[in-house]
Amino acid sequence: MFEGKSIILGVTGSISAYKAVEIASKLTQGGIEVDVVMTASATEFVTPLSFQSITHRPVHTDMFSPVTDFDIEHVALAERADVIVIAPATANTIARLALGLADDLLSCTVLSTSAPVILAPAMDVGMYQNQVTQENLERLRSRGYTVVGPAYGRLASGLEGLGRLAEVGEILAVIHQVLGRGGDLSGKRLVISAGGTQEPIDPVRYIGNYSSGKMGYALAEAARNRGAKVTLITAPTAISPPPGVEVIQVQTALQMRQAVIDKAAGADALIMAAAVADYRPQATAGQKIKRKPEKLSIELIKTPDILGEIAGDLIKVGFAAESEEVVENATRKLKEKGLDFIVANDITGADSGFSVDTNRVIIIDRIGKVDRLPLMLKSEVAQKILDKLAVRLAGGSSV
Ligand code: PMT
Repeated sequence: MFEGKSIILGVTGSISAYKAVEIASKLTQGGIEVDVVMTASATEFVTPLSFQSITHRPVHTDMFSPVTDFDIEHVALAERADVIVIAPATANTIARLALGLADDLLSCTVLSTSAPVILAPAMDVGMYQNQVTQENLERLRSRGYTVVGPAYGRLASGLEGLGRLAEVGEILAVIHQVLGRGGDLSGKRLVISAGGTQEPIDPVRYIGNYSSGKMGYALAEAARNRGAKVTLITAPTAISPPPGVEVIQVQTALQMRQAVIDKAAGADALIMAAAVADYRPQATAGQKIKRKPEKLSIELIKTPDILGEIAGDLIKVGFAAESEEVVENATRKLKEKGLDFIVANDITGADSGFSVDTNRVIIIDRIGKVDRLPLMLKSEVAQKILDKLAVRLAGGSSV
């Protein structure tokens, strides 16, 4: 979705500079034009050729190179960039940026740009915790810079602490979030649910389902990347919380209901991708149930219909996992729950619905328009759903 965007990737002299090659690679694979600007010390850790081979573009290293016209180069780079990201950013570079120094190509470019700047600090724990570094970072934050990380872990010095470069995935997520500012969901507040609720039977057992959370998390990330403020209400999953999204962890249908009620107030849209249990044990045993009787019955009671209950001035989108009469069943749920549109998963194929990375969905709106989409990655399905949501948010009656 960011094809054609332009990013300057600043690389400074840290042992973690090699991880910037992966960042450059992932951005380039996403169709983004990546111009790498390296400080002199960065070239001691990783070669310009590594970046050039990945980005297929010249790598900028030397402010006074006779073959480049410096005046034009740093201004052109600064003007073209949609975002500047410096990863890794050393204590030295952070200090120079905080002071507004312009003594190499990277600092000149940052000083000249009006693009947003993201810093991913990486340094030894002592340097990071030093008051000077903290003050410099605070100063840059107050000027609108985004700081991602550092992470806690083992450092090159052998010490353990805060100072490791943030995970590449986290840095990429922040880049996507910043690139998405001004997207078609900017200023919109979205509440998205994900995962399968767990209804406890006793301290070690629960009633659950096969939802992995992939569909809901894909929606949350895609909405964030289109500029929305996203709250993700998630039942337990094995997926890491997406950066740049407010994440609320719940376990049961009742907890999910409370979180949705709290967060839907004032939201522009609610998308329920979660597989919420329809029934829960009437009582949860305080102790582990022993394997004694031949038969064991557990009394189940209905859970509240969260999506059906939510009222107010917000767009409501539901999901329906169906194995037969997909359109008919989904249309019934759309009407019963008063939805704007519903996304019906056909769960009869092994490549669609629960747990897998792909999904085959049919989107049905409240005036009966039926849109059958082919098998796609869940990330692509998420974009299609958000395209339709954007139409509804803009006042369109049909999607
Ligand atoms: O998590 P993944 O592995 O990626 O799988 C994604 C998914 C298949 C779980 C997801 O795409 C999906 O289809 N979610 C809805 C599952 C379902 O069948 O829901 P339902 O038909 O029971 O409910 C219909 C709608 O009402 C859903 O939006 C559901 O979130 C909501 N609901 C259901 C029960 C309840 N008590 N309260 C609700 O709000």
